[in-house]
Amino acid sequence: MALPTRVKIVEVSPRDGLQNEKAFVPTEIKVELVDRLSAAGFPNVEAASFVSPKWVPQMADGADVMGRIARRPGTIYSVLTPNMKGFEGALAARADEIVIFGAASEAFSQKNINCSIAESIARFEPVVAAAKEAGLRVRGSISCALGCPYQGEVPVEAVLDVARRYDALGCDEIDVADTIGVGTPRRVREVMSAVTAIIDPARISGHFHDTYGQALANILAALETGVPIYHASVAGLGGCPYAKGATGNVATEDVLYMLRGLDIDTGIDFDAVVDIGQWMAANLERKGSSRAGNAIAAKRAA
Ligand code: HMG
Ligand code: MG
Repeated sequence: MALPTRVKIVEVSPRDGLQNEKAFVPTEIKVELVDRLSAAGFPNVEAASFVSPKWVPQMADGADVMGRIARRPGTIYSVLTPNMKGFEGALAARADEIVIFGAASEAFSQKNINCSIAESIARFEPVVAAAKEAGLRVRGSISCALGCPYQGEVPVEAVLDVARRYDALGCDEIDVADTIGVGTPRRVREVMSAVTAIIDPARISGHFHDTYGQALANILAALETGVPIYHASVAGLGGCPYAKGATGNVATEDVLYMLRGLDIDTGIDFDAVVDIGQWMAANLERKGSSRAGNAIAAKRAA
């Protein structure tokens, strides 16, 4: 299949990138991160989570972040909402899109959101209905679609089952997420081919963590199945508190570099993203893990 000529990148560093940071990242840094990303032209920024602050303390200032960002017309600001309480926070914070997040693995569902897959779908039902009523977009994320830290292998049918349920709920977009970065291209092709056979590929996104160094190869494999939306995080920041050892999302700089080489348009200012990745890593007092970002920064400094 011909590769898509345009791809939507959803920048998830303000949420997935920061949620696992031990030291609390000041609200003003989170706001500046979102604002810089908006200015760089991202069409979609995952800006915050409205989850229990006891479960994920780093995301406790979501309402503040959303209240202080400078919204760029044309950018969708998404937030995570596991239940009605989260939805109410998201609505008050004027989010454009809510993200419900379930899993294709029972064990991970219990660890991450403290309920079974079936219970999570029942909990999402009123959340999606309320979001639709309020005119918000809805995205459904399927964690552990390529493997689970507790259960190991995850059957393709388990991914399809959640995808069908999200579709029936009315999700606009459905994320196939490799939470712990264990997938390899052949498996990604199998999973994405199966999902895109039942749901329009235009509504499917790939969310690849880069724990095993497979994320770019996995994105290429997913592109070959026609999937046109990918999540990425500047400087490769991130990880899930309920998936031990899982490292960050694929680095945005690396994805943009690869897509540019494939003549795939994103509308995003690559040089600005390199700056943001270097700035954010410096804020966290470490070197970012983007190979392309660090290479370009080193070349600039030479
Ligand atoms: P629970 O303990 O079963 O919930 O947690 P509960 O309804 O019994 O509530 C317990 C307490 O939390 C109560 O407070 C609630 O008010 C409060 P208390 O009475 O004890 O003071 N609470 C909330 N507070 C603020 N906002 C809320 C909210 N809900 C309840 N929305 C719950 C269930 C879902 C709340 C909890 O498990 C939770 O918050 N989990 C979030 C986990 C999370 O954020 N994980 C990381 C994001 S997912 C991810 O990273 C994967 C992804 O990137 C894709 C991939 O890579 O796979 C998306
Ligand atoms: Mg993730």
